[in-house]
Parts: sequence; structure tokens; C-alpha cells
Amino acid sequence: MTEAIKAFNESSTQLLPEIREDLKAYLRYMKGLGYQGVALSENSVRILERWNEGGAAETPGTIQAETLDTIQVDLGACQRCKLHKGRKHVVFGVGNPRARLVFVGEGPGHEEDMQGEPFVGKAGQLLTKILRAIELTREDVYICNIIKCRPPGNRNPEPDEIAACIPFLRRQLRAIGPGLICALGSFAAQTLLATKTPISRLRGNFYTYEGSRLLPTYHPAFLLRNPAKKADVWEDMKKLRDEYENN
Ligand code: URA
Repeated sequence: MTEAIKAFNESSTQLLPEIREDLKAYLRYMKGLGYQGVALSENSVRILERWNEGGAAETPGTIQAETLDTIQVDLGACQRCKLHKGRKHVVFGVGNPRARLVFVGEGPGHEEDMQGEPFVGKAGQLLTKILRAIELTREDVYICNIIKCRPPGNRNPEPDEIAACIPFLRRQLRAIGPGLICALGSFAAQTLLATKTPISRLRGNFYTYEGSRLLPTYHPAFLLRNPAKKADVWEDMKKLRDEYENN
């Protein structure tokens, strides 16, 4: 038995560099094909398992990138954090799956929780008007949030809740691949840019998020409380519109 273990250890030590080189070559090959990451969702693992069963449609070159649908299936009736206890709906996101512009807010409020759709309450109605002002509709863009379940009493999301939820937003953004992202409010902007800089300083400037141009602006709910700030948002929206037209 000891001999067998020794032989196994020896052969695996010899094989390890070979496997490592194979893996590196394979990942370089995938990169050359345009893949930007390795998805390890349940669905991706199922696809990998099917490779062993053979069949032309299951060769590596034909792996499909994740879609919003497969991500939503993976999210399911999520119980990854405590917010599931008080929510009515998981608010995944809405709009054009191939949108060139994605709006990211904080998290669902009461109305969004009831309807299962982001930005449908008063702040959402203002967002729809802002979109109209730059000649876009909700169907042209994609709208989602940093977290997908309503925190009780609309309190701020907590770090463990963000940590559980943010991978899904990142996957959504990768699946859509928008040229432009508009972060609505300090929470969305600071989370996506991993910064603590206040929104008053972030807004109106373009940043880069995983290859997309990201523009932070004030949250529509903040505008409802501070209508004087609408002028700033209008300036930001003109920049967003210009960028949208030139991409
Ligand atoms: N506020 C948000 O940040 N998101 C919504 O979906 C609604 C209100």
C-alpha cells in the first residue's frame, strides 16, 4: 500500500508540470477566442460534464457565454443571504439583454419588491423621465441593482448581503457587455468602483469598469428630495447621451 502511494505521488509529481502547461495553453487558447473569464456556475459545470459524453456540439470552441437567463436560473429563489427572509420577489433586472447602456441602482424598494421589477416606484418613474429626456426608453437600456432583495425598512445593504449578491451583478454586466454603465447614487458608484469617494465628487466623470465606461450620477430618489440637483444630473445625462451616440 505504502509502495502504491509512493508510486502515485511520484507519477503525479511528474505529471503536474505537464498538466499545468496544458492548462495554461488551454486558457491562452480560450483567451485568444475572446473569453474573458471562467464561469463556474452550476450551468457551466453541467456544460463541462457534457464534454465527456462527446458530440460535436460539445467541443470546447462551442461553449456559449453566460446569458441573463442562465444567470437568473442560477440565482433562482436565492437564499444566499438573510434578505431572502423578508422579500417578496428577487428583483433580477429588466430591459434589453444586449443593451449598450446599463443603469445600476442600489436595491429594490417596496414597490420593486412587490412587482419584481427594478425602478418602478416614484424614483423609477423619475428615472423613466430622465431616460425620455435623452431620447431613450426602458426597453433600450438594461436596469438593475447592486442587490436583488429589499432590505427591511429600506435600510442600507450590509457587507455580507453585498458580498453574496454582487457576483450576480458582475455576471449580468459581463453577459450584457455594455459599452456604458450609469451608476445611480453613491452606493452603486462606490461599490462598482471600489471607492469611498463621495458621489458629489464622483458624479459627472467617466471611469472604467471591466472595459465599460462608467458614469456615476445622483440617484433619482435623492433628486426627489433635492430637486435643485436635477441640473447636475441633466449635465451628466448630456455626457451620457454623447458617449452613447459615439459608441
Ligand atoms: N432604488 C433603487 O436603487 N433601485 C430600485 O430598483 C428602486 C429604487
